[in-house]
Amino acid sequence: MKFDTPATSNPIDQMKIVGQPHDRIDGPLKTTGIARYAYERHDAVPDAAYGFVIGSAIAKGRIRSFNLQAAERAPGVLTIVTYLNAGKLGKGTYNTARLLAGPEIQHYHQALAIVVAETFEQARAAAMLIHVDYERSVGAFDMKAACDDAVVPPPIWGADPADTAVGDFAGAFANAEVKLDAIYTTPDQTHAMMEPHASTAAWNDGKLTLWTANQMIAWTVGDVAKTLGIAKENVRLIAPYVGGGFGGKLFLRADALMAALGARAAGRPVKVALIRPFIANNTVHRAATIQRIRIGTAADGRIKAIAHETWSGDLPNGLPEAGAMQTRLLYAGANRLTSTRLAVVDLPEANAMRAPGEAPGLMALEVAMDEAAQALGMDPVEFRIINDTQVDPENPERPFSQRNLNECLRLGAERFGWGKRNATPGQVRDGRWLVGMGVAVGLRNNLVMKSAARVRLNDSGNLTVETDMTDIGTGSYTILAQTAAEMMGVPLERVMVRLGDSSFPVSAGSGGQWGANSASSGVYAACVKLRHAVAERLGLDPATAQFSDGEVQDGERRFTLGQAAAESEIVAEDAIEFGDLDKQYQQSTFAAHFVEVGVDEATAEIRIRRMLAVCAAGRILNPKSARSQVIGGMTMGVGAALMEEMAVDKRIGFFVNHDLAGYEVPVHADIPQQEVIFLEENDPISSPMKAKGVGELGLCGVAAAIANAVQNATGVRVRDYPVTLDKLI
Ligand code: MOS
Repeated sequence: MKFDTPATSNPIDQMKIVGQPHDRIDGPLKTTGIARYAYERHDAVPDAAYGFVIGSAIAKGRIRSFNLQAAERAPGVLTIVTYLNAGKLGKGTYNTARLLAGPEIQHYHQALAIVVAETFEQARAAAMLIHVDYERSVGAFDMKAACDDAVVPPPIWGADPADTAVGDFAGAFANAEVKLDAIYTTPDQTHAMMEPHASTAAWNDGKLTLWTANQMIAWTVGDVAKTLGIAKENVRLIAPYVGGGFGGKLFLRADALMAALGARAAGRPVKVALIRPFIANNTVHRAATIQRIRIGTAADGRIKAIAHETWSGDLPNGLPEAGAMQTRLLYAGANRLTSTRLAVVDLPEANAMRAPGEAPGLMALEVAMDEAAQALGMDPVEFRIINDTQVDPENPERPFSQRNLNECLRLGAERFGWGKRNATPGQVRDGRWLVGMGVAVGLRNNLVMKSAARVRLNDSGNLTVETDMTDIGTGSYTILAQTAAEMMGVPLERVMVRLGDSSFPVSAGSGGQWGANSASSGVYAACVKLRHAVAERLGLDPATAQFSDGEVQDGERRFTLGQAAAESEIVAEDAIEFGDLDKQYQQSTFAAHFVEVGVDEATAEIRIRRMLAVCAAGRILNPKSARSQVIGGMTMGVGAALMEEMAVDKRIGFFVNHDLAGYEVPVHADIPQQEVIFLEENDPISSPMKAKGVGELGLCGVAAAIANAVQNATGVRVRDYPVTLDKLI
């Protein structure tokens, strides 16, 4: 089904099942331990051996030699694979560094070898006996220093230019009545998902099956094939349950490749989980940024000039953290400039982490907006409201498909009690706590991706949905079941959803918050076909047949869905394909975040007291799972604001605090209260579902709202994240 004109009314609009706060279907399976993750497939491969992956202890250089003798003789060891015996390997489309080093080493903890043994402990013990002789080279490990030679990166996500300019920024800024010019920094961050990168690999007659933790099944099948030099048809990926990803599992990583190499060499299935202290340096992370923002306004607060320049680091030919993306869209202003620069460093590979670009970009922009409002003596909510735009400010012929950001701000201000905020910092106390309120907004683009699904109807009137879509804890199972149930007029319990298998039709996958809207639209398309097939099978007119209560009816004629499939199962498969509505209209999602913090006046300890997010993100397919996404994002925003920072050892080129003891994320006690409000919206331009993404929106803007609240509480403006107590005293 091609989606190239705005959606008209369709069966989803009934909202009998879609739009209802159903519990997650996979919830009981996960909480009781029945759901099997990639490392737990004893059911499918009871004879799997264990692999342990070791990584480079230098960041740049060459392997002179390995001494594997002691490891090979260690108890239980079946095989050891290094680049010397791995066979010829290609490089995947989505990897910057090679997943198996040798002889060259590109970054710290780049995989060097997999040891396969009968038990995990044997594999790990043997791995410790491997001796590697390195030839070390000088690396660039200081991102800030490398910015002097920063390069213009290729188009961002293959599409958007690194730089944009409209009007005369320099002239307008020079003549602005109120000016802000400030530099902000955000640190390297790691995804810190619950389930580590894990895979079980099994070969059969030259065909590889990988049970793996992955967000994007089809991309990864392609990269497994490319890397191993085998046909895609010989690769099967299975990922029904994924224990979090946040972008860290978008691509093929060392767990899957090394498990495949180990299993081939051992002649036996092998399972690999990357140990936690290995993940930060071996896999990918969100790169640190340096961001310069200039805002020039008229005395009435209207923005005349806005510039956002960002720098981040990555390996040669790597990706920038595109921190200026939202600044191209968020506020009005005739004179504008954005730029994105990439500093080439030899640190581990940078790549996407939840809301790549916007999340760290808003951490800077939305503090700059707070500072500009302060300089104007204007309320920061009002300052944002008067600078709203309903068109793409870089391209005014292009409207937003929907933009209700001002409504988010107004409703949020009212519900949060913003009117009680004292604009002068340091004035409000609660015992030993200095109390402050902060606001910031979030914008995350709504991307759409082709997505296919197959729906089967059997003679009991039950439906099975099959698509290679993943559920990374987001609620995919539930919203896809809701979509099929609504379309076919059956209760939710009559729909079984099967996900995460490369033998199913190729979906949008889970990335860039495009999953919910795109994949449910794929199921919608398949159900449109299935309705047609059911009507035809029964000799009804597909145009007038009604589906409800497990029945299909046309005039006087009425059948159960089971009767339609009495002779044989009815199967329909289709894909949603998106035309260029996303070019004609700017599609984005919006949030207003309000936060209250307390800062201990003696110790400067910062505690979150209250959080509110008001989101405008099209139709909300399931308010319960959408709320879970947003409160998860808000929690991650607390981490970004107050805790998360990978410390770089600039002498050696690695992240020092590479485990969950040293890399802190919020726990329940850090989050006393959260509230989420969704505006009632339908966006007919986004898809037949009229929905958008929320998974990444929830993070966007949160950290800046917290930093702004800390400033309101204390009068101290911190421009370098995380906002830790040492920066307040
Ligand atoms: Mo997202 S960072 O595209 O999983």
